[in-house]
Amino acid sequence: MKALITGGCGFIGSHVVRDFVRRGWEVTNLDKLTYAASLENVADLALEPNYRFVRGDLCDAALVRELVAGADLVLNFAAETHVDRSLLDPAAFARTDVEGVACLLEAVRADGRAALIHMSTDEVFGSLPAPLEAAEDHPFAPTSPYSASKAAAELMIRACCETYGLPVTVVRSCNVYGPNQHIEKFIPLFATRAVAGEEMPLYGDGLQEREWLFVADLVEALRLVAASLPAPGYQAIHVGSGERIANIEVARRICQLTERPAELIRPVLDRPGHDRRYALDCSKLRAMGWAPRIPFEEGLARTVAWYAENGPRRAATDPSFAGYFEQQYGARLS
Ligand code: DAU
Repeated sequence: MKALITGGCGFIGSHVVRDFVRRGWEVTNLDKLTYAASLENVADLALEPNYRFVRGDLCDAALVRELVAGADLVLNFAAETHVDRSLLDPAAFARTDVEGVACLLEAVRADGRAALIHMSTDEVFGSLPAPLEAAEDHPFAPTSPYSASKAAAELMIRACCETYGLPVTVVRSCNVYGPNQHIEKFIPLFATRAVAGEEMPLYGDGLQEREWLFVADLVEALRLVAASLPAPGYQAIHVGSGERIANIEVARRICQLTERPAELIRPVLDRPGHDRRYALDCSKLRAMGWAPRIPFEEGLARTVAWYAENGPRRAATDPSFAGYFEQQYGARLS
C-alpha cells in the first residue's frame, strides 16, 4: 500500500510517517520544511527503501497532483498550527491551511482513486462551557485566524465531498503532545524553560482547560481510521483523551517533574481571544475499539524528559525562534 503523507517532518506527521514506514507502507513524505518542521524528526528513516522525502509546497498544484497519483491513501498534516502566530500573520494560515487543502482536494479529484484523511482540530468549535462536549456534528464557531482557517478547510472538504463524491475522513483531535513538537508550543516551551531555570509565561489566569493526548495514542487512532477505509464520501471522527486539565496545573506538574519552584510560573498578558475550554465527544472512535493508552502523568514525564535532552538544541536549530520569542514574550516578561 502506498501513502502520501504531507507535513511529515512536523510534529504529528513525523510520528505517523515513522509508524507507516515501520509497518511496510510505501511512504512519500511531502514537506515544505517551514520553521516548524525538521528533517531531524525523520532522520532515522532516510535510508529505508520504502521511504521517500520530497521537499515541496502543498500549494504547488502540479507537484501535489503528481504525488497523489499512485497513492492509495493521502494523509494531510501540512499546516500552520500555532494560534499565537496566526494572530501575528493570518495570511500564512489562509494560504497553507485553506489554499493548500483546496489544492490537495483538486489532486484527489483528478486522481479519482486515493482516499484522503485530513487532520483537523477541536478548535473549530471554539470555546465550550463545561460540561459540554462536541460531537462530530457540533456547529463551528472558530475564534482565531488559525481555527478559522481549519474550519474553512473543513467547509471546502465538505463541499467537495458533496459535489464530487470525494472520499475524505476529517480527524479532529484535542491537544496532542510528545517528542518532536516545535518548542513554541505550551508543553515544549514550559519544559525547556523549566529545565533551564527560566520563567514560564502563563497566559492570563491559567485556568483555561485543554484536553491532552499523547502523540502515540493519536497515531494508533489514525492507523485504525486508515484500516477502516474506504469510507463512502465524507465522515468526521473525534480523537480525545478526556483528560482535561487547567494550564496552571500542567505548569505546576512540569515544575515538579523538573524539580523547579512554582515561582518560575509567571502570569503574563493573556492571548487575545483565548478560548477557555475545549472538549470532544469521542464515542464514535471508542465504539471502533480505540482507547488512549498513555495517561497524562506518564506522557508528560516522557515528554519533559525528551525536552530536557533536546529542547535547547531544537530551539537553537530554528534560527527564527529567538526573534519570535522576543516578539511574542519580550514585553510580556519585561
Ligand atoms: O486543541 C488542538 C490544538 O492544540 C491544535 O489544533 C493546535 O495546532 C495546537 O497548537 C494546540 O493549540 P493551543 O492553542 O491549545 O496550544 P498551545 O500549545 O499554543 O497552548 C496551550 C495552552 O497553553 C493554551 O491555553 C495557551 C496556553 N499557553 C501557551 C503558550 C505557548 C500559555 O499559557 N503560555 C504560552 O506561552
